[in-house]
Amino acid sequence: MPANRKILMLPGDGVGPEVMAEVRRVIDWQARHRSVGFDISEGLVGGCSYNACGQAISDETMTDAMHADAVLMGAVGGPEWDGKVPRHCRPEAGLLRLRKDMALYANLRPARVFDALAEASSLKKERVLSLDMLIVRELTGGVYFGEPKEITTFPDGTRRAVDTQLYTSPEIERIAIVAFELARKRSGKVHSAEKMNVMETGVLWREVVTEVHRSGGFEDIELHHILADNCAMQLVRQPRQFDVLVTDNLFGDILSDCAAMLTGSLGMLPSASLGAMDGNGTRKALYEPVHGSAPDIAGKGLANPLAMILSYAMCLRYSFDGKEDADMIEGAVGRVLANGLRTSDIMAKGCTWVSTEEMGKAVIAEMDKAI
Ligand code: IPM
Ligand code: MG
Repeated sequence: MPANRKILMLPGDGVGPEVMAEVRRVIDWQARHRSVGFDISEGLVGGCSYNACGQAISDETMTDAMHADAVLMGAVGGPEWDGKVPRHCRPEAGLLRLRKDMALYANLRPARVFDALAEASSLKKERVLSLDMLIVRELTGGVYFGEPKEITTFPDGTRRAVDTQLYTSPEIERIAIVAFELARKRSGKVHSAEKMNVMETGVLWREVVTEVHRSGGFEDIELHHILADNCAMQLVRQPRQFDVLVTDNLFGDILSDCAAMLTGSLGMLPSASLGAMDGNGTRKALYEPVHGSAPDIAGKGLANPLAMILSYAMCLRYSFDGKEDADMIEGAVGRVLANGLRTSDIMAKGCTWVSTEEMGKAVIAEMDKAI
């Protein structure tokens, strides 16, 4: 791998910096033991950026992100800023700007149950054992970005809030293609979730997904349409019926939290947000754990760094063609869990509690054994 590949690290707020430090440990290890080297720079996003420059992400950091081969992000937000800063400056606005300006329309959220963690799931072990599904969430459209989006106050003091759920056919087409292509490398099954029974965007979503399936060369893929509420129910009833689940921005946000909990902990789930492939075969990409900044446990060594470490593994896989190195990390994570090491969020009887840093070091120790 060429040494000049650029990674921009944005640790963010709360537990972000702690979990990012464990990714640094993995990257340093790879630089020493595998010929994987990156040109790494760091920047601010979220509340920490607001404190430093009055914006949730500065134009300079945005430029760095646009020029990086990949961005690794920790988490943003916390009570220090909740309701206390102008809305357009709230920490989450930094993350949304990254997604929008980098045009990261495809958000991949794998929910995979590690055997050793099946007991930690909120469902019975036999329902989730060997669950391995992938949520493909549309990330730059829908109600997150649709206009108008405002709160109006009328003369009589009544207030009215409006958010706009908006999708165009090309936006739906491109995310459907991502889902079908990924399904082809997996078990060949796609569920598409919307609310066509009440929403016009749901009607269009279903029509476009059906059309892409029929005329886009994806007839070998098994396609199921499902209403999003039923999908939530099926996820907790029989999650293993799903392989690839494609859905819009808001439903994807909700359903992915739900799927995450099936795996035992939000602290285990990585994600990749990808843009379109350019002429050189590269694409903009951002990798972040699905969990948030968890301000209540920040700075205490209690955070689980595995979602962040697994996000870095996804980065190797999708941005740097580094399957072997990604497999090595994922294998090490599986063995650490099988050895009974647990951070607080996944702690169970008979297991050994470890801190954030000890968990990172344990992953390294397993990687050491593998070379
Ligand atoms: C997520 C988060 C974000 C979202 C927040 C932090 C804006 O919940 O990535 O799932 O709603 O997309
Ligand atoms: Mg979310």
